This record gives sequence, structure tokens and C-alpha cells, in this order.
Amino acid sequence: MKKDTVLLLNILFVALAGVILIFLFNAPEVTTPHVPKDENHQKFFTMHKKEAEKQCEQCHAQGKEYPLSEDHPPKYRCLLCHIRK
Ligand code: HEC
Ligand code: HEC
Repeated sequence: MKKDTVLLLNILFVALAGVILIFLFNAPEVTTPHVPKDENHQKFFTMHKKEAEKQCEQCHAQGKEYPLSEDHPPKYRCLLCHIRK
């Protein structure tokens, strides 16, 4: 390849990387609520994920303290969507 071509390709590469970065910075905010860090959830922060998820429905189920809304997304593996933060 000619030197000029290489230079041009490098510039294009940097420009493209810039565009992708701008795109990522402008991505909409994550809207999935985090697992709140309160006394109801504190113990789940240190627990193994699969272990913790077995207990969510003690409160987050129909007829319990805080049921999921009807349009809640598929609820397989709570903690993959609801980050503990
Ligand atoms: C002891 C009952 C209880 C258990 C067990 C429990 N939660 Fe909760 N959860 C609540 C209550 C009450 C609220 C609403 C008040 C608050 O923010 O703490 C809540 C709120 C939440 C919210 C925030 C919802 C919103 O509207 O912002 C998420 C996400 C959540 N819980 C996920 C989980 C997950 C995942 C688990 C299992 C690892 C879990 N919870 C286990 C009682 C519980
Ligand atoms: C596929 C991703 C995903 C999974 C898996 C998931 N959730 Fe959610 N959850 C969401 C999103 C997104 C919202 C916000 C819905 C909205 O605002 O309409 C939400 C909302 C909630 C809320 C607030 C009340 C409501 O229904 O809007 C609670 C509590 C909650 N989830 C608990 C759980 C629990 C407990 C599990 C496991 C049994 C779980 N979630 C699994 C994505 C998920």
C-alpha cells in the first residue's frame, strides 16, 4: 500500500472511533431500576446471584408486599437486569 493510503486509512479509523464514542455517550440512560440499597435488599448484595434470586418473590409476587407490574418484562434471572448498585 502507498504511504498516503495508509495515512488516509488511519485518519478514517480515528474518525470512525470518534463517531462511535459520541454515539455511546449519547445513548439513553439506563432505565431499569437498580436493586435499592436498603434493609430489604442489603443482604442480597453479597449473596450469590442465583441464591439471591430465589428470594425475590417472597415480596415481589402477586399478593405480596411489592408485586411486579403486569407489563414487567420477562422475569427470568432478576439480577441480570436489576443491577446491585
Ligand atoms: C423483604 C421483601 C423484599 C425482598 C425479599 C426483595 N424486595 Fe425488592 N423491594 C421491596 C420493597 C418493599 C420495595 C420498594 C421499596 C424500596 O425501594 O425498598 C422493593 C423495591 C425493589 C426494586 C426497585 C423498584 C422500583 O420501583 O424502583 C427492585 C429493582 C427490587 N426491589 C428488586 C428486588 C430483587 C431483584 C430482589 C431479589 C434479589 C428483591 N427485590 C427482593 C421488598 C423486597
Ligand atoms: C429482562 C430484564 C428484567 C428481568 C429479568 C427482571 N426485571 Fe424487573 N424490571 C425490568 C424493567 C425494565 C423494569 C422497569 C419497568 C417499567 O418501568 O415499566 C422492571 C421493574 C421492576 C420492579 C418495579 C415494579 C415494576 O414492576 O415496574 C421490580 C420490583 C422488579 N422489576 C423486580 C424484579 C424481580 C424480583 C425480578 C426477578 C423475578 C425481575 N424484576 C426480573 C427488567 C427486568
